[in-house]
Amino acid sequence: MPAEGGPILTVASVTKRFGGLLALDSVSFEVQRGEIFSVIGPNGAGKTTLFSCLVGSVQPTSGSVRFRGEELSGLRNDQVVSRGLVRTHQIVRPFREMTVADNIRVGALYGRSHLRGAKARARVDEVLTRTELAHRATVKAGVLSIGELKRLEIARALATGPEVLCLDEVMGGLNPAEIQQAMVLVRALRDGGLTILMIEHHVHAVAGLSDRLVVLNFGKKIAEGRPAEALHDPAVVAAYLGDDTEVRA
Ligand SMILES: Nc1ncnc2c1ncn2[C@@H]1O[C@H](COP(=O)(O)OP(=O)(O)OP(=O)(O)O)[C@@H](O)[C@H]1O
Ligand SMILES: [Mg+2]
Repeated sequence: MPAEGGPILTVASVTKRFGGLLALDSVSFEVQRGEIFSVIGPNGAGKTTLFSCLVGSVQPTSGSVRFRGEELSGLRNDQVVSRGLVRTHQIVRPFREMTVADNIRVGALYGRSHLRGAKARARVDEVLTRTELAHRATVKAGVLSIGELKRLEIARALATGPEVLCLDEVMGGLNPAEIQQAMVLVRALRDGGLTILMIEHHVHAVAGLSDRLVVLNFGKKIAEGRPAEALHDPAVVAAYLGDDTEVRA
């Protein structure tokens, strides 16, 4: 185990091929404990694939991911979650016929601490409060608005008891007020002790929240640094101008 001050996550030369497509091309970076660390880049840049490689839902073709000093290569997603590294999905995946509270309970039961009974209920209540879903606890997930569904996606991940939370476009499709609410939530989660990795297209949120970020384009890291510098890097500006997706301000 590394000293507490070392990086919590070390991504070293991670490459992922899907047949002939090089989705990730030797991507490396480190995330420090307590950071809000963003991963940005145009559509198809490899951002979601990177998160999939981190949490073991996809195995890298080569390279290494170390979490708190432990190599994660070869571990399944549930094994990675049980170590405290969890991601949300860009396309939300609630159990639509189950209530909001029961969706969250699944995370508590099968996550890191396998909570049962009163402990599971306490975790569900705590997460409902943190994600401002307490007033929706007993409704079926299928009736939630997109903003609520995104918060439920975060809630389900939180219920697993993570140390590192990877958020894949949790602000996608939200209106400005909901984005503001999501930004407050992300900051509160970090201030509560979590390390956050965040894939996000909303540049205002990226600039306002991130301590540091990496920029991917066609699977390669093209920039890294503090938002004020990295977002204005000429290679980053060119990558976005060459794509029909605007960096949404
Ligand atoms: N399971 C898969 N099989 C084959 N190709 C895949 C698979 N998953 C992703 N890809 C391809 O890998 C590339 C990177 O996809 P990825 O979803 O990681 O991009 P992204 O940066 O998350 O994009 P977006 O901003 O649109 O979400 C794309 O060309 C995509 O089509
Ligand atoms: Mg994606």
